[in-house]
Amino acid sequence: MTKLKWGMIGGGEGSQIGPAHRLGAQADGLFEFSAAALDHRPEQGREYAQRLGVAADRAYGDWQEMLAGEKHREDRIDLVTVATPNATHFEITKAFLEAGINVLCEKPMTMTVEEGEEIVRVAEKTGQICAVNYCYSAYPMVRQARAMVRAGEIGKVRLVVTNFSHGHHGDATDADNPRVRWRYDPAMAGVSGQFADCGIHALHMASFISDDEVETLSADFASTIASRELEDDAMVNFRMSGGTVGRLWTSSVAIGRQHGFDIQVFGETGGLRWASEQPNQLIYTPVGGRTQIIEKGEGGLHEDAQRLSRVAIAHPEGFPLAVANIYCDLADAIRGETRDGLPTASDGVRSMAAVHTAVASAKENGAWMDARPPIFR
Ligand code: NAI
Repeated sequence: MTKLKWGMIGGGEGSQIGPAHRLGAQADGLFEFSAAALDHRPEQGREYAQRLGVAADRAYGDWQEMLAGEKHREDRIDLVTVATPNATHFEITKAFLEAGINVLCEKPMTMTVEEGEEIVRVAEKTGQICAVNYCYSAYPMVRQARAMVRAGEIGKVRLVVTNFSHGHHGDATDADNPRVRWRYDPAMAGVSGQFADCGIHALHMASFISDDEVETLSADFASTIASRELEDDAMVNFRMSGGTVGRLWTSSVAIGRQHGFDIQVFGETGGLRWASEQPNQLIYTPVGGRTQIIEKGEGGLHEDAQRLSRVAIAHPEGFPLAVANIYCDLADAIRGETRDGLPTASDGVRSMAAVHTAVASAKENGAWMDARPPIFR
C-alpha cells in the first residue's frame, strides 16, 4: 500500500504540539511527510522542514505559498494538519478544503460559531474530511469506555463529571510572561481563556464516552489573577440530549495539578473512571460489585480498544500514540473506510457553540442556555 502524502502548517521548532503530530503521523508508516509551512517566520520554517526531510521545493515559507504549490501537483498532499495559533485555523482550513485537500485541524477549530458552521458546510460540499484533533478520545481505554457504554455495560448514563485543571498559570508573578499573557487577552485568544483552551477537551470527552450531545449549560467564570481579562477558572454544569447530568471544572491556577484531565461516568448499573495521567487503565465498578482495573492490551477488550492498543500489555502508551490513533483513523477514512470515533468538524462547531454559550451564561450569572449550534438545533 503506497503511503499517503501529508503536509503540516504550524508546529515549527520549539512549538508545543508540533512534535506530537510528527510522531503521530509517522508512527505507522501510513503517511509520508511531503510538504510543510511550519513557522510564522518563513526562513526558519523552510529550514526546519528540510531538516525534517521535506524536499526543498515543498518546504514553503507560508501557507498561501504551500496551497499554491500543492494544489496543482499530481503528487499533492492527501492531508494537511493545521497546528497554528487559533485565530488562523478558519482561514487555512477552509482554503485547503476548498482546494480538495483533507484537513486535520487543531482545536479550537474556529473562533466563532458562524465560522464553525461554514467549515461543516464546506467539508460537506467538497466531500473532504475535516477532522479536529480531540486526540484524548483516541486513547485505547477511552475507546473502551465508550464501547462499554454503547454495549449497556453500565446501563443508562445518569451523570458525567470531568475536570481539566492544571496549575501552570497559577503564578501571579509570571502572569506577564508573553507565552502566558496572550491566553487571557481577548485580542489574541478570543472570547474565552481556560474554557476554550482546555475545557472543550473535557466537554468533548463527556459527549464522546456517553455517546450523547450537550444540549444546555450554565457557567460560572472567574479571573482569579486580577490582571486577566479572560477566565482562568470555570465551572460548567450541563445537560445532555438524553437527560444525562454533566459537571465540568477547568482551571489553570490549580497549583499542584499537573495535566489534570479526568472523567467519571456514572450509569444505572456501574461507573467508569479514566485519567489522562494514567491513560492505560480504566477503572470499572459494577453496582454492588468490586472495583476492577481494566488494562490496555488485555484480553477481552472491545474491538476498537484492542485495535488501537499498540505495544504489549503494561508498557506505557502515551500522548503521541493517541495522536497516532487519530492519524490511523484518518488514513482509513481517506481510503474510504468510515471510522466513527474520528472527531470531525461537527464536534468542532459544537465546541464553539458551547464556548460562546458559556461566556454568555457566565455574564448572566449562570443562566441556563441552549448550547447547540444553530445547524444542530
Ligand atoms: P505554539 O505557540 O507553541 O506554536 C505555534 C507554531 O505555529 C509556531 O511554530 C509558530 O511559528 C507557527 N505559526 C504561527 N503562525 C503561523 C502561520 N501563520 N503559518 C505557519 N506557522 C505559523 O502553539 P501550540 O501550543 O503548539 O498550539 C498550536 C495549536 O495547537 C493551538 O490551536 C492549540 O490550541 C493547539 N493545541 C492542541 C493540543 C491538543 O491537545 N490537541 C495541545 C496543545 C496545543
